[in-house]
Amino acid sequence: MGKIILTGDRPTGKLHLGHFVGSLRNRVKLQNSNEFDEIYLMIADSQALTDNFDNPKKVRDNVLEVALFYLACGIDPKKTTIFIQSQVPALTELTFYYMNLVSVARLHRNPTVKQEVKLRGFEESIPSGFLNYPVSQAADITAFEGEIVPVGEDQLPLIEQCREIVRKFNNIYGETLREPEAIVSKNKRIKGLDGNEKMGKSLGNAIYLADSDEEITKKVMGAITDPKKLKKEDPADPNVCMVYYYHKLFENENIKVVHDECENGTRGCVACKKELINKIIESLSEYRKNKNYYEQNPEIVDEILKDGCNKAKNKAMEMTKKIKQNMKIDYFE
Ligand code: TRP
Ligand code: SF4
Repeated sequence: MGKIILTGDRPTGKLHLGHFVGSLRNRVKLQNSNEFDEIYLMIADSQALTDNFDNPKKVRDNVLEVALFYLACGIDPKKTTIFIQSQVPALTELTFYYMNLVSVARLHRNPTVKQEVKLRGFEESIPSGFLNYPVSQAADITAFEGEIVPVGEDQLPLIEQCREIVRKFNNIYGETLREPEAIVSKNKRIKGLDGNEKMGKSLGNAIYLADSDEEITKKVMGAITDPKKLKKEDPADPNVCMVYYYHKLFENENIKVVHDECENGTRGCVACKKELINKIIESLSEYRKNKNYYEQNPEIVDEILKDGCNKAKNKAMEMTKKIKQNMKIDYFE
């Protein structure tokens, strides 16, 4: 069995800098490490419908948004198969079989589900599809023999749920499914330029992927630094400074120099901010250029998705054959 990565995102439209410097950059690195035999990146539209079933247009529009985002961030369709969950029927089929292996009580106890139910006000009446999405997520992972699942921390209870399903399945039907392991991508939640844990448009403390160079400059110039530092020669503590925090997020190669110069008072805040602005603009300009290219050539994106869905469909079908064999429901093979 090869080394296989599977991961995905619900296309519900909250793409921000956290996705950019957190999960996507991590995935691009994994992709370019060439250590993996197969990499699958799924746009989880079926899962998005479990809590957006009454808003199909939103889900559909966001599928394309997410695909563009992946490609603009450097996901290479030659190395990573990008596909859309609903186009792989085996996933729904497997979900139905795996549902027998999980109790309703266990699903209610899943911390991620619990939190989301509360957030969506589903307490009175949880759609059964929504309650079951962890089961469908186990289908996503196992259908592709996913071994490594790069996710944000909030997803850990779902990976644990998948591991339980795998063990139970293998116990009953014989060694069939691969038990996945999560790797957590950091920085998914990043702080605002004012040090606030929350970022928001109304707070004016967040950088957006669509921001112009002027907007980025204005925001970084207004960022919170060490208040003890009044002039260049004052030694300061970079660890309380948001500019330093963002230098780290954007992976400044000279991070140690920034740190030491700040501490011993040989670095001025204005120069330090300018350096950060250049770094952010440089990272985003690559992203913008790519995004622009794919927006101008929608037929290329279409082709990539169609091709990805086909590959994914075949892979999942092969695995499902094996699974059904072991479940003794392979009548005519
Ligand atoms: N639950 C994930 C999210 O909200 C999306 C997802 C669906 C996923 N299936 C998956 C992630 C399988 C990793 C593996 O973003
Ligand atoms: Fe922050 Fe840089 Fe000023 Fe130090 S020199 S306080 S890291 S902006």
